[in-house]
Amino acid sequence: MGYAKVRSVALHGVVGEVIVVEADVAPGLPSLIVSGLPDAALSEARDRIRAAVHNSGASWPQQRITVNLLPAHIRKHGSGFDLAMAVAVLAAGAGLPIGRVVDAVVLGELGLDGTLRPVRGVLPAVLAASRAGVGSAVVPVGNAAEARLVPDIEVRASDSLGRLIGYLHGSERLPDPGTPPALPEPASLDLADVLGQERGRRVIELAAAGRHHIAMFGPPGAGKTMLAQRLPGILPQLGDQEAIEATALHSVAGTLPQGNPFVRRPPLQAPHHTASVAALVGGGSGLAKPGAISLAHHGVLFLDECAEFAPGALDALRQPLEEGVVRLRRAYGETVFPARTQLVMAANPCPCAREQQSCQCPSLVRRRYLARLSGPLMDRVDLQVDLDPVRSAALFGTEDAEPSKAVAARVLRARAAAVERWTPHARSNGEVPSALLRHRRFRLPAPILQPLRQAMDQGRLSARGFDRVLRVAWTAADIDGRSTPDAGDVREALQMRSRRMR
Ligand SMILES: Nc1ncnc2c1ncn2[C@@H]1O[C@H](COP(=O)(O)OP(=O)(O)OP(=O)(O)O)[C@@H](O)[C@H]1O
Ligand SMILES: [Mg+2]
Ligand SMILES: [Zn+2]
Repeated sequence: MGYAKVRSVALHGVVGEVIVVEADVAPGLPSLIVSGLPDAALSEARDRIRAAVHNSGASWPQQRITVNLLPAHIRKHGSGFDLAMAVAVLAAGAGLPIGRVVDAVVLGELGLDGTLRPVRGVLPAVLAASRAGVGSAVVPVGNAAEARLVPDIEVRASDSLGRLIGYLHGSERLPDPGTPPALPEPASLDLADVLGQERGRRVIELAAAGRHHIAMFGPPGAGKTMLAQRLPGILPQLGDQEAIEATALHSVAGTLPQGNPFVRRPPLQAPHHTASVAALVGGGSGLAKPGAISLAHHGVLFLDECAEFAPGALDALRQPLEEGVVRLRRAYGETVFPARTQLVMAANPCPCAREQQSCQCPSLVRRRYLARLSGPLMDRVDLQVDLDPVRSAALFGTEDAEPSKAVAARVLRARAAAVERWTPHARSNGEVPSALLRHRRFRLPAPILQPLRQAMDQGRLSARGFDRVLRVAWTAADIDGRSTPDAGDVREALQMRSRRMR
């Protein structure tokens, strides 16, 4: 007979909230009732916990057991409460001393044999605990490295319920796993591999420096995929806060590599064109999983063969790209995932995927193919360019292409210049709202804008296109260290535009 409580964490999106798991053991027919808005996984937890306790050598109280998760109004998902429930039951009904976890949150799923299994979302859960003033966290060994990323909290990692019971009795040690060693970063793909293709290389540099969304059109083999994959390698490394945010999303998705879980480089996500809307923006039952656009938070979302994506899938990306967050409507309310990403699209100009000269498709087919890419999504894409295939001269030439490291240095400088100029309104040229772009303070002198005016008068440039060209011109200036764009920057930005998109 007795009562005990243990703390754990419930997650919504990437936001954690410390909850209390309480157990009451009273005389009566042996039974286990779990209350506190449990979802399906929680009901299954009853059988798991009982089996795990038995198989850990502890005895299950043969009485009437009530487990309650507080506060009741918070929706609780997943199997991460198993361990807290088992400890609370054993403390209430079998005299397990829990002094060593009164100031802890307890996280983890139990296997029937009593092993402690990793769960999704441990990083944001431990962060929430730390923010709530909790002093330590008990986590599965498989999640120790990500838990350890949170400063100011003690981490105890166990591989089983049995070992934790031993620790609570004082017969077993659960050492703090310590900060994981910083492993060398895997080498990212280098721009030095891209020979010739000056235009493509320039587009990638402009995109990186201004954080512009880009769309590249060109025949097979032009190097579109190659270039896109090299964009993350020239982006600035993530700051501490950004890295924690990105890592938390990967934690909730369950995609963190063990051992070296810190997402320090801007992540690249390249979903296939058959990807479902849920795979792109997130969803799923129980604890929602972030989609590709959130896993690309502070990184790059690469839509290769973008004209092949279902129209609904591209539409689903629009709102998140605008807001920087995904809002998933769920049966019981809304789950929000951060999704501030840089979009890179690549497409062949025609479904036959041939070079221009050998393509015999009717022009209607060609126009239809790219038509779905126009509209509100493309309005946000500042750089829309046509790429030509690389000539053999470039491939067999002797000149070395500039490596990513050198380009990254220019990108970093350009970013700093943009931050200084636009703060607090925007952090990059790609984010600058049109109104600010046209504000008196940033308006460019008429002679410099002359080529743009001409293009508009001739119908080659729309009003939206005008703003996009301006943003790119600012980036060209930032890369070269000019305080405002000159006529050359404006001309370059204009020349970067695809013939297909106005
Ligand atoms: N500029 C280049 N320098 C060196 N190799 C290149 C270059 N462009 C293309 N290649 C070679 O061609 C291959 C195909 O390039 P990539 O896949 O990037 O083309 P793509 O434009 O994406 O074509 P597709 O439309 O078929 O997807 C690369 O793996 C690379 O070996
Ligand atoms: Mg490709
Ligand atoms: Zn064709």
